[in-house]
Amino acid sequence: MSDANRFTDLLPATTLEPEQIVVLARSAAERVEVDQLVRRDRSHRFCLRLWRDEHSEGWLLGWLDDQETGFHDHDRSAGGVHVIEGSLAEDRLTFGADDGTRIFSAGDSFSFDTQHIHRMRHHGTEPALSLHVYSPPLSSMGSYEIVDGVLRRLSIPPDEELAPRGDLVEAA
Ligand SMILES: [Fe+2]
Repeated sequence: MSDANRFTDLLPATTLEPEQIVVLARSAAERVEVDQLVRRDRSHRFCLRLWRDEHSEGWLLGWLDDQETGFHDHDRSAGGVHVIEGSLAEDRLTFGADDGTRIFSAGDSFSFDTQHIHRMRHHGTEPALSLHVYSPPLSSMGSYEIVDGVLRRLSIPPDEELAPRGDLVEAA
């Protein structure tokens, strides 16, 4: 079975709600053969698109050391994340509220709607692996930075690797 066909019977015929997306992420994660697919590389985050059709797309992402995405949104897509190995932290931008950080370990999942802004980063010492599903498929993303003390949003293509930008790394 080719890598794309491995997921075909799981894929929806319509755009999914966040709680449905995370179910798909969990189901797809059960079909990932980690040793076959994953390459560990300390210089780049491991990113492998598993499928993309008109209603959804799935990515397998690897995390090592201090690898992270920087703060971003997913434009018109909602999403779901399932952690397969290791541990990830999700930081949400908060202003005067409690700490916006949540930790997710192997077996944990979460979903988010189209209004969600977050940063994902490796947590702990063990390599992490996670499966991310977006519905509808990503058309673009927003990457956030602070320029001269002002928060700005940069629209980036869906296949561009996310990275922290400038002062916002420290602001969190
Ligand atoms: Fe994200």
